[in-house]
Amino acid sequence: QRDGFDHYMLKEIHEQPAALDRAIQGRITDDNDVRLEGFPAGEFADVGAVHLIACGTSYHAALYAQQLLANRDIPAQVFSAGEYTTTPAPVRDDTLVVAVTQSGETADTLSSLDIAAERGARTLAVTNVIGSTAARTADDALFIRAGPEIGVAATKTFSSQVAVLALLAERIAEDVSGTVHSDREALLAALERLPADVQDTLQRSPVESLATELRGREEQFFIGRGYGYPVALESALKFKEITYEHAEGFAAGELKHGPLALVTSDTSVFAVFTGRHDEKTLKNVEEVRARGAPVVAIAAESDHEVAEAADEFLPIPDTHPVAAGLLANVQLQLVSYRVADLLGRSIDKPRNLAKSVTVE
Ligand code: M6R
Repeated sequence: QRDGFDHYMLKEIHEQPAALDRAIQGRITDDNDVRLEGFPAGEFADVGAVHLIACGTSYHAALYAQQLLANRDIPAQVFSAGEYTTTPAPVRDDTLVVAVTQSGETADTLSSLDIAAERGARTLAVTNVIGSTAARTADDALFIRAGPEIGVAATKTFSSQVAVLALLAERIAEDVSGTVHSDREALLAALERLPADVQDTLQRSPVESLATELRGREEQFFIGRGYGYPVALESALKFKEITYEHAEGFAAGELKHGPLALVTSDTSVFAVFTGRHDEKTLKNVEEVRARGAPVVAIAAESDHEVAEAADEFLPIPDTHPVAAGLLANVQLQLVSYRVADLLGRSIDKPRNLAKSVTVE
């Protein structure tokens, strides 16, 4: 069942090229149109604002979506579902509430959907599971087609969520504005190349020596900006979830506002570069290195400046920033996996955690 992989998590990491292929299949036409089944062109023309609600890894995919929408001039906000149920945000007639949930069964996310519907918002579930509660209770559902995910740590479903949310953002933006953004062609081309780029990235998996080195460190920080920010949060979550070691993700710009006080030579800092605003993140790398922290940079293979600025370099193929974030995330999934494996952790079923959190 694990197809020769030691863990489901590793198998699912390697399934990402196929999962991404399915996520976009039939949804991008030759003339760069985005077609989402069940959502004809113009379907989202009345949308004035988008609320994205989710938990855990899905929350990080929702953060990605918020930026995708903002970059297309669509006002979007992200809410942790557990918070949305205590303090629901006001909705208007033109608010689209999108629940992002792999399982479609997360209690807080389902309650949020109910609250949004009661308040009169249009609801949409972006989910992996056909027939799940979220898919059945929301007004509409859009499926990410990642296939079953057994490992408690979400891996391929994060990549598929982001790919599908990118297509949804394109559809909404075109419906609302009546025009196609000048960046659309480059984005869609990068999404179509993504399965091959992920395959390429998997073949450059981080060396064992890096994992051995990291294993002994007291603390790991993950930093990024733009699309690198949700990736930093997601990578820190993955690291703590399966290694049981302390890890934190930050918006790179936040470092100086407090977390820098914790940085010592015992803090590994993973810096995510997506090709946008990299010069600022390079400054953050200098700041932590000045405090003795070893830096692992994840950036385009052609980026010699970043490679030289860091202690270790994990390359990804050159591509659009949206896809670069996902590729960096794949590298960091492998880092977490390898460290957890060296530590002998229960990778597929980490202590205290369940695949689906069905209580609030
Ligand atoms: O099924 P969902 O996407 O709603 O699940 C949300 C979280 O429970 C889930 O992403 C969790 O954070 C993962 N175990 C993280 O790897």
